[in-house]
Amino acid sequence: MRSLIALLVGLFLGGMLTVVALNSLRKGTAYPNGVMAVMAAQMGQLDEQVKSKACDAEALAPNLSTLAALGNDIEPAFLPTGDDARFSSLAGDYRAAVGVALAAAPANCEAASKALNAISATCKACHQEFKN
Ligand code: HEC
Repeated sequence: MRSLIALLVGLFLGGMLTVVALNSLRKGTAYPNGVMAVMAAQMGQLDEQVKSKACDAEALAPNLSTLAALGNDIEPAFLPTGDDARFSSLAGDYRAAVGVALAAAPANCEAASKALNAISATCKACHQEFKN
């Protein structure tokens, strides 16, 4: 009888711990996945705008400002990583590229396209090292 009770208590505690562990895993991934999903959506919209030749600074600014704001969420969403200093430096490259695009206010589609490529290069650089 005693061992049966111990078994039941063990099963119950095991189940509880699994729920706790799964919850914390979910919490850990929703934030970073969300930040990346919105970044990808914003980049997609910018790409569409350039393709449809709507490249003036006024058209691009809302998306670029969102990308700039998201830059503040990269470290809070991902840290700790295997190498936080390196990760922050790559996140800094991203913020700098978005900053340049915002400040330079692309005058035409060619300039806008260049600015987007520069941002995209910083996405790829970080993914190469930190995304598996
Ligand atoms: C400083 C690092 C860093 C920068 C900059 C960065 N990312 Fe990411 N991104 C990551 C990491 C790390 C992952 C992997 C997340 C994971 O596996 O949970 C990722 C994953 C993604 C994913 C896949 C999400 C998924 O569910 O697998 C997309 C899409 C994405 N990033 C888009 C972008 C875009 C677009 C940019 C640039 C505008 C960008 N990222 C810039 C680090 C970065």
